[in-house]
Amino acid sequence: MADARDDASLENVRVRFLGRSGEITNVRRSIGTLPPPERPEAGKTINAAVADLEASLADAARALASRELERALQTTIDVTFPGGTPNTGSLHPIRRAMEDACGYFERRGFAVVLGNEIETEYYNFDALNIPADHPAREGLDSFYLAPGSLLRTHTSPMQVRTMREHPAPVAIVVPGKAYRRDAIDARHSPMFHQIEGLLVAPGIHLGHLKGVLEGLFRELFGPRQAVRFRPSFFPFTEPSAEVDTTCPGCGGGGCRTCGGSGWIEIGGSGMVHPNVLRESGYDPAQVTGWAFGVGIERIAMVRQDVDDIRVLFENDPRVLARLA
Ligand code: PHE
Repeated sequence: MADARDDASLENVRVRFLGRSGEITNVRRSIGTLPPPERPEAGKTINAAVADLEASLADAARALASRELERALQTTIDVTFPGGTPNTGSLHPIRRAMEDACGYFERRGFAVVLGNEIETEYYNFDALNIPADHPAREGLDSFYLAPGSLLRTHTSPMQVRTMREHPAPVAIVVPGKAYRRDAIDARHSPMFHQIEGLLVAPGIHLGHLKGVLEGLFRELFGPRQAVRFRPSFFPFTEPSAEVDTTCPGCGGGGCRTCGGSGWIEIGGSGMVHPNVLRESGYDPAQVTGWAFGVGIERIAMVRQDVDDIRVLFENDPRVLARLA
C-alpha cells in the first residue's frame, strides 16, 4: 500500500475493507451472532484494526502526494523561485563623475577630446602664457620625463592643441588624468583627474560660463546648486576666477564638508587670455572664449560623502559597494 501508484488504488483498498460491504464492515456486522460476553472484546479488536488501516491509508496518501510533487518539480521550471544575484560590480565613482560631466556637455554640443598624459613643456606651459619663472615649471613641482617633456600638470594643454587644429568656433571638454608632485594626504594625490572646458566663438562672455557651470552642478549635485566666482589668477585666463558651488552637504548653511562656509571650491576658470588665442592662431579681435578646469575627485568625494581622497584610489570592494 505504501507504494500505491495513485489515489484510485488507495480508494480500492479502502472500499475493499471499510466500504459498505467491505470485509471489515461485514465482520463488524456479524458481531451480533456472537455470544453476548464475547461481543465487547470482538468490537475492540475490530476498532483497532479499522484505526490501523485508516492510519496506513493516510500514510500512503501522504507518501503518494510527496512522490507526485517530486516528479512535478523535476519536470517543471518554477518561475517563482527566487533567482541568484550575480556580482556585477559598478562604475568607479571617479569614472561616474567623469561620464556624468561629459554627458552634460555632449548633450549641449561640446565634443569630448582626449589628450596625451605625456605633454611637451611648450603645450603645458609656454603656449598657455606660463612664464619661464613660474613655480610649476620647477622639477620640484612637476614630473619631468626628459628635458622638454613631462606628465601634464593640467588638462589645459588641450585648449591650444585643439584650437590649432580647428578654426573657431570651438566647444570641447577634456576629461583625463593630470600629475603634480604633491605629497599624498587626505586632499592631495600626485595623480588626479580633471575635466577641462573650452568655448570660443564671437561674443562669448563670462555670463555664458556661469550659466553652463550652474547647469553642470545642478546635474551633478541637485537642482538648487548655485555658482560663485571668486577673483583669482591664472596666466592663461584674464580675468580669472575660482569656481565654487553650493555645498550639497548642507545646501549652503555651513557644515563639516564645506568647513562652515556653505560653498565648496571645485575648479578654476576665466576668459581665455588673448596671448593664448593668438598662440593658437585665433584673432582676439574676432573671437572671445572661456575655459575652466574642474577637479573630478572633488566631485566624486562630495557626491559620495567621503572626506579622504585616498579612499577613491584604494579600491577596497567593500567601500566601493557602499559608495555605489
Ligand atoms: N588648469 C587650471 C588648474 O589646473 C584650471 C583652469 C583651467 C583655470 C582653465 C582656468 C581655465 O588649476
